[in-house]
Amino acid sequence: MPLVEITDIHKSFGLVEVLKGVSLTLEKGEIAAVIGRSGSGKSTMLRCVNGLERVQSGRIVVDGLEVTAPATDLNVLRQRVGMVFQSYNLFPHLNVERNVMLALRKVRRMADAEARDIARAMVAKVGLADKLAAYPDELSGGQQQRVAIARSLAMQPTIMLFDEITSALDPELVGEVLKVLEELAREGMTMMLVTHEMNFAKNVADRVIFMHQGNVHEDGPARETLLEPRTPELGSFLSAVLH
Ligand SMILES: Nc1ncnc2c1ncn2[C@@H]1O[C@H](COP(=O)(O)OP(=O)(O)OP(=O)(O)O)[C@@H](O)[C@H]1O
Ligand SMILES: [Mg+2]
Repeated sequence: MPLVEITDIHKSFGLVEVLKGVSLTLEKGEIAAVIGRSGSGKSTMLRCVNGLERVQSGRIVVDGLEVTAPATDLNVLRQRVGMVFQSYNLFPHLNVERNVMLALRKVRRMADAEARDIARAMVAKVGLADKLAAYPDELSGGQQQRVAIARSLAMQPTIMLFDEITSALDPELVGEVLKVLEELAREGMTMMLVTHEMNFAKNVADRVIFMHQGNVHEDGPARETLLEPRTPELGSFLSAVLH
């Protein structure tokens, strides 16, 4: 059974339909890069997968949980589906360790010592073991984004969703964040990531999903899809972002 199964989802904001029958499946351990023009529905699709947006019709099942069923507990879902955004949203008054511990304490109701152990391991994993006591405003954007990833990983999700997590960073900080994603990839984490980093998509992702006007327009092996686009829409998108 696939880890993510999206079947014919439709999502409108008011009269504007932004997802027009999106279907895709993702196997456990697969890494899919989601690409496409601004407004094509990439973020909306990701937000539907972890229940931040409700669809009008269609079905989404993640890790056996039916996201689109009204009775599904979205808090349970979000413990299994980690999501990281362009903005890090760390709590400014908490240090790195406390930021990463917070959900473990509040959502998992974990004891302080246990939550601290997990937080330290996750912060070390993103290469910031020496920054446990630092506050967000003492960190670079790249470091803050790595803390946001650690915070999400602390919940031990079965899949991670990343929405343009390097887009707000200065170019010299992008690499350190992508390195963390590569490490997660090596460990076999299932990931869906919206990205404009085409080299990363080509080298790390298994699949590329090209969204165009609210639909999945192409979906195939990463290299092949990026090097030999089958549709003129993907061809012109790629020449616009690569030049
Ligand atoms: N909360 C909302 N209310 C109204 N319209 C929305 C809302 N969220 C998204 N939209 C619209 O839905 C469409 C798809 O938006 P979405 O953010 O999913 O695109 P995207 O592919 O992620 O674009 P970008 O590359 O700019 O991030 C856009 O036309 C956007 O204006
Ligand atoms: Mg977006």
